[in-house]
Amino acid sequence: MSDIIDTLWLDDKTNVVYFIDQTKLPKELVVKSTINLDDMYRAIANLEVRGAPAIGVFAALSMYVLSVRINGATLGDFVSEYMRCSNHLESARPTAVNLSWALGEMKKELNRFTMHRFDCGIDGKLLDNITLDDTLRGNLAYVLKKKALTIWENDINVCKAIGENGLQFIHDGDGILTHCNAGRLATVRYGTATSPIYLAHEKGMQIKVFCDETRPLLQGARLTAYELMESGIDTTLQCDNMVASLMASGQINAVFVGCDRVSANGDVANKIGTSGVAIIAKHYNIPVYVCAPTSSIDMSIATGEDIVIEQRNGSEVTKMWYNSEMSHKNVKVYNPAFDVTSHELITAIITEKGVA
Ligand code: MRU
Repeated sequence: MSDIIDTLWLDDKTNVVYFIDQTKLPKELVVKSTINLDDMYRAIANLEVRGAPAIGVFAALSMYVLSVRINGATLGDFVSEYMRCSNHLESARPTAVNLSWALGEMKKELNRFTMHRFDCGIDGKLLDNITLDDTLRGNLAYVLKKKALTIWENDINVCKAIGENGLQFIHDGDGILTHCNAGRLATVRYGTATSPIYLAHEKGMQIKVFCDETRPLLQGARLTAYELMESGIDTTLQCDNMVASLMASGQINAVFVGCDRVSANGDVANKIGTSGVAIIAKHYNIPVYVCAPTSSIDMSIATGEDIVIEQRNGSEVTKMWYNSEMSHKNVKVYNPAFDVTSHELITAIITEKGVA
C-alpha cells in the first residue's frame, strides 16, 4: 500500500484501540477508535475488523482497554466484569479460532497474575476479599497491557515468517489465485496468504495475482484487490464462478489462501468458496497452499466436520450490493460464511514454524 498503516493498534497513552473500518474500503480509508464493549462487539460482528488473526489481536487489545475502565470494590468484581466482557466478545463470531485463542491467552495471563499474587485462580471466591486499590489496578493494567501488546507484535512477526516459509512455492512469472482477504487487512501488517506474495514482489519476481471477488461480502474485490493494487502488484479481479475457466486457461500456477481454523487432521475452515476452489484446483493439478499462524490450529477438533460454521443474514446475498431487493422478498437464503476444505485437497499448510 502506498500509505501503509497498520490494520489496528493500541494508543497506550490514552488506552484506546484504533482500527481501519474495513466496511468503508476501498472508497474511503476510515480509522475508528473505541473504548466501548458494544462498539467492539459490533466491529467484529459487522466485519469492520475482520480476518481471523486481526479479530484475535483486536479482541486482546480491546480486553486491555476495557480492563483499565472496570470499576469495582474488589478483585472479584474486576474478574467477574472482565469475564463478562470477554465472553461477550467471544460470541461475536464463532468460526475463527483466533478470537477465542487470543481471549484465552489474555485470560490465562490474568489467572497467572491472581495465582502468583494471591494464590487463587480467577474462579476462586477468595478474590472477593481483596480490595481493588490503585496499586492493584496499576499491576493488573501492566500485565494485561504487556500481554495484549505481545499478541499484537507476535502477529507481525508470525506473518513475516509465514512469508519467508512460503516464498519457496512462488516462482518468477507465476499466476497466483487467492480467495477472500488473507492480506494485510486480515492481520496487523503483512497478511498470511499475501505475505509470501509481497515478499516475492519485493524480490523483484514478476507475479500476477488473481483475486476472487468472494461473494457475498466481496472481501476479494474490496480489500485484496485494493491492497495489492496499492502495493503495485499486477492484480486481476474475477467473479467466483470464473475460477474453473481461469484455471483451464493455464494462467494459474498456485492457489494461496488463509484460514480461520485448522482441525487436528489438517482440514481447513476458510471463507465460503475455498473448498470449491480447491476441488477445481485438484482437477487442473494446481497446488493449494494454506497460510496459517499456528494460533489458527485447533488440536481440540479432530476433523473439519466439527468446526462450527457461522451462518449470516440472508440480506447480505439479496440486498447488500443492490439498490433494491434483487430477489423475491420471501425467498429462503443459504449464507454460510465459511466452508471446510478437506486436507486431501491441500498441498501444504504454511505456518510461521515451518511447512506441513
Ligand atoms: O469473514 P471474514 O472476512 O473474516 O473471513 C476471512 C477469511 O476467510 C480469511 O481468508 C481468513 O480469515 C484468513 S485471514 C488471514
